[in-house]
Amino acid sequence: MKEKDLLQAVASYGSPLYVYDASKIESQYKRLTAAFKKVKQVKFYYAVKALSNISVLKLMKKLGAGLDTVSIQEVRLGLAAGFDPLSIIYTPNGVSMEELEVAKKLGIQINIDNLSILELFGSRYPNHPVCIRINPHVMAGGNTNISVGHIDSKFGISIHQMPHIERIVANTKMNINGIHMHTGSDILDIDVFLYASEILFEAATHFDTLEFIDFGSGFKVPYKEGDVETNIEELGEKLSERFITFCKEHNKNLTLAFEPGKFLVSEAGQFLAKVNVIKQTTSTVFAHVDSGFNHLIRPMLYGSQHVIKNISNPEGRERFYSVVGYICETDTFATNRRISEIREHDILAMHNAGAYCYSMSSNYNSRYRPAEVLFHKGNYSLIRKRETFEDLIQNQIEIDI
Ligand SMILES: Cc1ncc(COP(=O)(O)O)c(C=O)c1O
Repeated sequence: MKEKDLLQAVASYGSPLYVYDASKIESQYKRLTAAFKKVKQVKFYYAVKALSNISVLKLMKKLGAGLDTVSIQEVRLGLAAGFDPLSIIYTPNGVSMEELEVAKKLGIQINIDNLSILELFGSRYPNHPVCIRINPHVMAGGNTNISVGHIDSKFGISIHQMPHIERIVANTKMNINGIHMHTGSDILDIDVFLYASEILFEAATHFDTLEFIDFGSGFKVPYKEGDVETNIEELGEKLSERFITFCKEHNKNLTLAFEPGKFLVSEAGQFLAKVNVIKQTTSTVFAHVDSGFNHLIRPMLYGSQHVIKNISNPEGRERFYSVVGYICETDTFATNRRISEIREHDILAMHNAGAYCYSMSSNYNSRYRPAEVLFHKGNYSLIRKRETFEDLIQNQIEIDI
């Protein structure tokens, strides 16, 4: 997306604004399919939580992806976008049996991550195919909040509890058609993937009815030029080879599955915000934008460092700025960053704003969530309206006080 197009989008739809580039999503999807092209049956389930706009989901469907979901609401969005229920995998964490029964009724692939529900579900619905989320006890992920496959993690059933899983399966005669793991996000080292995969391959030998192995996700994407990223091509080469050998050795006809979120949409998104005020203090120059962590929380939550460009003055002399929001507590997008000279009313573009940005936004400080726009085939389309006061008030009930 060119600077002039981004400025045009702000002129048309206002600021702050999320803009997504469909061609980047497409090229990332193609990279994945190319990396695993040697495997006969591969499925990529896009992790809806990363960016759940229905138009983005429709784009994923067109590309041939399935969906990875974590709530019934995400499932419903997927069904509304036209996905076949069987191309939706449901991987909730610690939800009630009632919620799983809703998922069963909707006909989607269920993934269970605890023994208690596994036993209950197996007793009630032995014929319904179920995938099991295994916790391989591998420490992976760019940050403790997103490392989810280690021994102290609440996710999955411990690999050491395989005898218990087997007892439940034998007693209930349930149909285990998949096994799954997801060890974390921002995993750089492909050896970590390969190591954890071996644990999953071993687990796969315990089930005769298996149809797929889902290796989760966690591919790291670059946040700035020259940044390190997961070498998806090398991972594809090595894991494909191992997968093919495993299937041959064990005479299994399996599908290899992944659930990428960030890899598909992170770099496709830019968050555009307008500079309200330039404030010079004794120690720094603040650029205050018309947004805050209510719209993009990743820098405050995970310490993520989004590249920030001044698209209104790209050739300006570079100076040092702290870019901050309007929220009533520390609300910093970037500290002491070199950015081309910023003037009041300039538009700043924050990169890598496709994944876990809009989907984590809130109405904190009673601010409206921004609009979203998709740049597709040379045109901008509004794919979500900016909120209004009616949206803020519609579910509130005034009582007589
Ligand atoms: C079960 C599961 N699958 C897939 C993903 C997507 O991970 P990523 O965005 O790192 O690709 C997540 C992210 O939290 C997850 O919890």
